[in-house]
Amino acid sequence: MVQEFKKVGVVGLGTMGAGIVEVFARAGFAVTGVEIDDAALDRGRGHLEKSLGKALGKGKITEEEHGAILARLTFTTSREDLRDADFVVEAVPERMDIKRDVFADLDRICPPGTILATNTSSLSVTEIAALTTRPDKVVGLHFFNPAPVMKLAEVVGTVLTAPGTIQIATEVAKRIGKTPVTVSDRAGFVANALLVPYINDAVKAYERKYASREEIDASVTAAAGLPMGPLALADLVGLDVCLAVMDVLWDEFREQRYVAAPLLRRMVAAGLLGRKSGRGFYDHS
Ligand code: CAA
Repeated sequence: MVQEFKKVGVVGLGTMGAGIVEVFARAGFAVTGVEIDDAALDRGRGHLEKSLGKALGKGKITEEEHGAILARLTFTTSREDLRDADFVVEAVPERMDIKRDVFADLDRICPPGTILATNTSSLSVTEIAALTTRPDKVVGLHFFNPAPVMKLAEVVGTVLTAPGTIQIATEVAKRIGKTPVTVSDRAGFVANALLVPYINDAVKAYERKYASREEIDASVTAAAGLPMGPLALADLVGLDVCLAVMDVLWDEFREQRYVAAPLLRRMVAAGLLGRKSGRGFYDHS
């Protein structure tokens, strides 16, 4: 079934979307990447080409594979080009008004059998599914940053998702080299419900001047052997994404441990979002 997919669509080519396109194309799928305008499309394509260029430079893919991957990619600003897609992953910004617009279009444009997956990390997959006339074919497929590297993919089922849809999404995840875990639709799913409060605690420690940002990060890398510390990870994930996850955890559970650190909220308000804005806890310019 999955091996018969003729086209996979990815809507939104930000950091996550561009990485997701790369993962599918490297696994042999023909992928159409969709963005809102030419500037966003160029940014997404640039990100992808740079990443593939690095993989080529490091000898992870051959010249031939590099050419074949590029040949499997199509870029467009028209969602109508997904009219023959078998599987679509949405990776647009985490705002319900934007998701609503995208899912209304996908539901209208894609054939009734097409599975619509969302990469959302902070919105309810159930609410997104309910925006469509095919909630049984809507599923969460949640990737981790950097998408080409991180092995986990959470397959998020809702009360409306058909078991066959979960099965296909799980199969897709395996085909693209990810380790799927099936989780239910609750705030933070599983990985972020563990990871983001930990980042938030690190922000509180920094805010209360327990130690410098470098010392806080080193306390984790050197003590627990994780590849990066929580503040560096916040910059990688995006402070806005961390805040959005904290806020949904708070909204859903109203537990004190889910209150976002004031500094995290202030930094997001100030546009200090981490790597994607050039500055977060560290300077990335
Ligand atoms: N795209 C593709 N490949 C990448 C990459 C990217 N953006 N970033 C790094 N890589 C590759 C490198 O090419 C390199 O590959 P090789 O070893 O084969 O040469 C490998 O990853 C390691 O990279 P580096 O040597 O440059 O740097 P590093 O060893 O410090 O690793 C890292 C970088 C992979 C980001 C590592 O620090 C790491 O795993 N950090 C933790 C990331 C993490 O926890 N992510 C989950 C965040 S939570 C989330 O995303 C969910 C959400 O909804 C918020």
